[in-house]
Amino acid sequence: MFKGVVLVTVIFAFTAVGCEDGGGAGGGTPEAPYTSFFTPIPSDPVFPSENEFSEEKRVLGEFLFWDPILSGRMNVACATCHHPDQGWADGRAKSVGVDGEGLGPNRQGDLMTPFHAPSVLNVAFTGLESTEANAEFVSGGYFWDLRAPTLEDQALQPIKNVIEMRSTDFLEDEIFDEVLTRLSLIPEYQELFSAAFDEDEPINERNLAKALATYQRTLITRPTRFDRFLEGEEDALSPGEVTGLNKFINGGCADCHSGPMLSDNMNDQTRIVQRDKIAVRTPSLRNVELTAPYMHDGSVPRLRGAISLYEDRGDLEVTLGEDDFGDIERFLRTLSDPDFPRSIPAYVPSQLPVGGSIQ
Ligand code: HEC
Ligand code: HEC
Repeated sequence: MFKGVVLVTVIFAFTAVGCEDGGGAGGGTPEAPYTSFFTPIPSDPVFPSENEFSEEKRVLGEFLFWDPILSGRMNVACATCHHPDQGWADGRAKSVGVDGEGLGPNRQGDLMTPFHAPSVLNVAFTGLESTEANAEFVSGGYFWDLRAPTLEDQALQPIKNVIEMRSTDFLEDEIFDEVLTRLSLIPEYQELFSAAFDEDEPINERNLAKALATYQRTLITRPTRFDRFLEGEEDALSPGEVTGLNKFINGGCADCHSGPMLSDNMNDQTRIVQRDKIAVRTPSLRNVELTAPYMHDGSVPRLRGAISLYEDRGDLEVTLGEDDFGDIERFLRTLSDPDFPRSIPAYVPSQLPVGGSIQ
């Protein structure tokens, strides 16, 4: 049954790099250096020149992210579906928004999003190709189908979405008037917006988006053992983990899962053929063990299942077997930062429950 799910999800065609004769993925050292496939995670977030960092924006963004006041029925916050207890995702195949109660897999409700919620950890680096990031860096896009060009643009979408936050109580073209009015009636938000944005009427859609984006860009993980290995510390990975890394490269995985995020963030139709005809982008594999279930539809419950999806089906030039999956899984687990940010505000200025109806 499990395999059936997997086959419906995605079919890949890719060529192997330095693949051994006989079809095995090969645990030997790849022909090119590791750093030609991957770069260490940057130590600081990247902020675009149109929305530079300020601590005032970050603080405002944090409150907004956790405050259900942004939702139609004041019961859903961004954090409802992007919660540190769930690796900043929601641990569900599909997310429950406006009619839900509870957190993560225990959340009850009938209306579900069409896609699985990704983690917002490290979104500052989405689409980054190397560590040499600067303010000119523009992400290749957000969401599984890349429909949001920037994090600022993305931040407004859940508020408009009828399943995620808006609810049928408000029309799409009413919801921002409603939310901005609510915010301007709360003195603490007036002060926070004025401190973050030096404008006459700072409480507007654009600044709401900028604050949310700034906060999210600060949610980054620290260098893992894998990053130290890339920086030349050879003992940072065990021999078994290096074998997994080699198989990951020799098996062709790094054709798409490359760069600091182990993702090229592309959704190339010609490369990815899916039975449901949606070209989804390559997800990051940072912290992948912490963000089950997997794939754009959340159809794969465990990491091993997500890897064994790439079992030889005749359309691949490499053959990956059970042993290879185990090795690759061992390597992928080195991409976790167990000490990722987890801070939760003690209150939100609306005095509503922090994170929405998640108790
Ligand atoms: C009801 C659950 C839910 C809520 C509430 C929610 N999200 Fe999401 N989020 C999702 C889902 C599902 C996706 C994937 C949607 C898609 O790709 O079409 C997503 C995607 C994202 C992404 C894109 C990540 C990436 O790697 O492309 C970001 C960033 C994000 N959400 C931030 C937010 C912010 C900010 C808020 C609040 C304004 C918010 N979310 C509210 C479920 C939710
Ligand atoms: C042609 C590009 C491409 C190649 C090559 C590729 N992947 Fe992927 N990978 C993707 C895409 C696209 C998805 C998302 C598919 C979906 O959601 O249906 C994905 C999803 C995953 C996931 C799930 C991540 C998550 O958070 O949901 C894992 C794990 C993964 N790939 C590992 C691998 C491994 C291991 C290999 C090599 C054996 C590999 N990938 C090769 C593009 C690729």
